[in-house]
Amino acid sequence: MTDYDPAENSRKSYDVAIDAMREKLASFRCEKIGDAVLYLGDCKEILSSWPECFRFNAAVTSPPYGDIRAYGGHEKPDLLAVISAMSKRLEAGGVIVWNTADQTVNGSETGESFRHALHAIDCGLRLHDTMIYCKEAVTFPGNNRYHPAFEYMFIFSSGAPKHFNGLKDWANKSRGRIMSGTSRQKDGTTSRFNNVGQEVPTCGLRRNWWPIANPYTGETEGHPAPMPYSMAHDHLETWTTPGETILDPFMGSGTTGVACAKLGRKFIGIEIEEKYFNIACKRIDDAYRQPRLFKDEPPKPKQEALL
Ligand SMILES: C[S@@+](CC[C@H](N)C(=O)[O-])C[C@H]1O[C@@H](n2cnc3c(N)ncnc32)[C@H](O)[C@@H]1O
Repeated sequence: MTDYDPAENSRKSYDVAIDAMREKLASFRCEKIGDAVLYLGDCKEILSSWPECFRFNAAVTSPPYGDIRAYGGHEKPDLLAVISAMSKRLEAGGVIVWNTADQTVNGSETGESFRHALHAIDCGLRLHDTMIYCKEAVTFPGNNRYHPAFEYMFIFSSGAPKHFNGLKDWANKSRGRIMSGTSRQKDGTTSRFNNVGQEVPTCGLRRNWWPIANPYTGETEGHPAPMPYSMAHDHLETWTTPGETILDPFMGSGTTGVACAKLGRKFIGIEIEEKYFNIACKRIDDAYRQPRLFKDEPPKPKQEALL
């Protein structure tokens, strides 16, 4: 009779668990297109089937919020559970861009967005930034409030973000003038800014609110709420580098995947509704087929003012 070895026993149970997860994952439709792997199914189930050792570097995602859209009539996902599952698989220094908003029910905003942000903190992530997506189009809210025209883009991070390539396309109103001024200290005294005397450059670092136009391209036709392409693109450029693995557990028409294909990032997308999954497959396949004729041009000034 061989001796009982607890370490060997636990390794074997681990192997059995991994095999079981692999088997479970094998039951989902999965398409591999270039460096993208797309799963058709419920993201909570798929995330929980991943091997323990699997990690992703960043996520750019826009979950369904409230009951605004039916998205094929599937059960509403448990977003807090998805945040928990994602927090366990995010690499140190990685970020999750969580684009969401609140539905107004019986006259009150649900506050769901805040619950997500606080839950991410409870899961050990940092609320690194609360960014705002300023929308061009507005909805008509009734006669006792202003037009709602923004959504959140929460930046959850695992520790300090490893990459920050801040986009510098904010057109400075005082460009060309010489910087002056002081900043107020905690004790009330003032001190000079470090760069006093230097010329204000034409463009500076963006604000953390992004006015984003959503030009209709037709390629997302059939999906009711695609993410604007520039949102995915600009966040990937800011927080990630080529070769990293990016997740979108609510892939929809595949906008994050298209941006990953164009920017040389690996992509894992999950979508529950087959008709949106098929749109994503086509868009990502097209993105890989398009030859890259030009190197990415530096971004042009586009963030001047909202009016
Ligand atoms: C706001 S849309 C995402 C749009 C996407 N960013 C795009 O560019 O098209 C949310 C998506 O999540 C999908 N979804 C809803 N529940 C899901 C679940 N449990 N697992 C995976 N996807 C789900 C919906 O079908 C919908 O396509």
